[in-house]
Amino acid sequence: MLGCGAIGAGSGADPHPDVGVITHAGAYQACADTELVAVCDADPVRAEAAARRWGARAYTDVAELLAEARPELVSVATPDPTHAELLERCLRAPGVRAVLAEKPLALEVETARALVALARERGVALAVNYSRRFAPAFQRLRADLGIGTLQHVSGLYVKGLAHNGTHWLDLLRMLAGDPVVTSGRDRLGEPGPDPTLDAELALPGGAHARLAGLDTQRFTAFEMDLVGTLGRVRITESGHVIERFAVADDPRHPGYRVLVADERTTGALRDTTLHAVTQLVRGETACTGEDGVAALELVEAVRELAFAQP
Ligand SMILES: NC(=O)c1ccc[n+]([C@@H]2O[C@H](COP(=O)([O-])OP(=O)(O)OC[C@H]3O[C@@H](n4cnc5c(N)ncnc54)[C@H](O)[C@@H]3O)[C@@H](O)[C@H]2O)c1
Repeated sequence: MLGCGAIGAGSGADPHPDVGVITHAGAYQACADTELVAVCDADPVRAEAAARRWGARAYTDVAELLAEARPELVSVATPDPTHAELLERCLRAPGVRAVLAEKPLALEVETARALVALARERGVALAVNYSRRFAPAFQRLRADLGIGTLQHVSGLYVKGLAHNGTHWLDLLRMLAGDPVVTSGRDRLGEPGPDPTLDAELALPGGAHARLAGLDTQRFTAFEMDLVGTLGRVRITESGHVIERFAVADDPRHPGYRVLVADERTTGALRDTTLHAVTQLVRGETACTGEDGVAALELVEAVRELAFAQP
């Protein structure tokens, strides 16, 4: 049984059945080979509430948790600007064998690279929670998109290219291979260090991808639409739904062939954090620190083009 620590007790609500086990604390409790020994939140009320809920010891200071509870597996699920410092502490702590980091690994790619180098030096497995990577439904898509030769990918996201856009860029890498950024645009003009930018990317094999950031006041959005020579896959509702379209006779225009809805999968992201933890226990991960760095390298390339001086 591996002793585990969860840092950051923000999202504690009971999830919809489609979501399943998504919190880090919940994953350590649900996994047969792990035991949640400690939770940490800078807010003492949240720390105590999480400790009561999960039957673990409460800490408000990460250094104390690491020194006293001596977890072997640790999660960092705090706000993005705190990730790098907390991850470094976890990676340096004696006894820690694996770290599951919420995305993004860091705010800047250089810092993320240094974290991956530190993990390697310390012999600690570092995984990043780009959740779709851990989902069996997405792993089946990766093995075979089933749409012939990929032609075009488009998508939507909200709330920061590093914060949420890296989920999309990572999914693009997973399903279509490593892209090259060809354009970046600051259409929304958001203030702050992580604006929601638009991007265009060239994919291996000649396909093209286009990502648009939305300014959403009333809804959130994460979608990817992949069109090939033989069909189409649409990933909607943040990835919980995967729709397949197949080539069929056009019922309105005899003699024409069109794409028609064929199959709809829901619950495609069920239990992703549990899958991530189960993999780490086995010494594996579907999303490495290097994947976390690669996503941030794409962010940097988009930012460079979006803010290039004419
Ligand atoms: N992988 C996913 O799909 C997914 C989904 C949701 C959130 N996230 C990521 O998880 C992280 C947390 O998101 P959230 O929605 O739970 O945020 P949140 O703001 O609701 O909660 C974060 C918690 O961390 C605590 N905290 C802040 N600084 C701390 C510190 N130094 N030490 C200990 N605790 C500290 C806060 O008090 C708060 O309770 C973010 O990085 C976000 O990107 C990932």
